[in-house]
Amino acid sequence: MTTSQPSPVWITGASSGIGRALALALARQGRLVVGSARSHLDLATLVEAARGLPGRIIALPLDVTDPGAMAPALAKIEAEHGPLGQAVLNAGSHIPMGAADFRADKLRKLIAVNLMGAAHGLEAILPGMLARGAGRIAVVASVAGYRGLPSAAAYSASKAAAIAMCEALRPECAAKGVTLQLINPGFVATPLTAKNDFAMPMMISAEAAADAILAGLASDRFEIAFPRRFALAMKVLRLLPYPLFFAVTKKLLRD
Ligand SMILES: NC(=O)c1ccc[n+]([C@@H]2O[C@H](COP(=O)([O-])OP(=O)(O)OC[C@H]3O[C@@H](n4cnc5c(N)ncnc54)[C@H](OP(=O)(O)O)[C@@H]3O)[C@@H](O)[C@H]2O)c1
Repeated sequence: MTTSQPSPVWITGASSGIGRALALALARQGRLVVGSARSHLDLATLVEAARGLPGRIIALPLDVTDPGAMAPALAKIEAEHGPLGQAVLNAGSHIPMGAADFRADKLRKLIAVNLMGAAHGLEAILPGMLARGAGRIAVVASVAGYRGLPSAAAYSASKAAAIAMCEALRPECAAKGVTLQLINPGFVATPLTAKNDFAMPMMISAEAAADAILAGLASDRFEIAFPRRFALAMKVLRLLPYPLFFAVTKKLLRD
């Protein structure tokens, strides 16, 4: 590696939706982006889409649920491009699940990707950043992690755990010079939300989500939640006492 190289940004879940739009937005800003996901083909398409932009996207396929995948991937990035400056741990999935179709296995799958996937990233990345006293990591959770929502028994649980994990780590990271941020999107039009068969208020495009994330990443604030009005409504829901909260979520039930 040469000293003139810009420090890389690593995005997991870069092959689709929010991660893909964010990777392209960063490449438009001239950043060197390493994009990870399982789909080699979709990552190759992403690399192609970035050709001609001021920055560059490099594909690094992996499965974030594999506990042995992230550390060697990071070692490869740092050997080739220098110390990692920033990571966005965005890989995630959704499996709608209510009471009638409750399956522990669905929860296990979402915990594996939405929580443990981010945890594997943190485990690999934190030691180097803490030792250097520099670096930025953002974990993508969801406003659906604020409280348990109908049809999201698995998704809300996995995202609530991811939020708590980041809240717990933030002060110590900050004290050591590492900025840990939490990204909580509302509804964004991606293949993930295409699984939902209910109305999704204030849904935005993946490109608009990427813009909101870019603005948040440029700040040091802990939480990057958007769209702002929807996130505010979800924060109000978080504060409601249970009788009021369930009166609202009962209305979200379908027959
Ligand atoms: N869309 C929304 O409304 C919304 C709202 C709140 C939060 N979020 C969160 O935002 C993040 C991105 O979601 P999205 O809406 O952009 O969904 P998406 O279009 O389905 O993209 C998900 C990305 O994660 C990758 N991924 C999934 N499982 C993986 C695994 N085991 N290892 C590596 N990569 C994996 C996928 O690539 P491969 O399949 O190729 O691996 C894909 O690149 C997720 O964490 C999601 O929970 C989304």
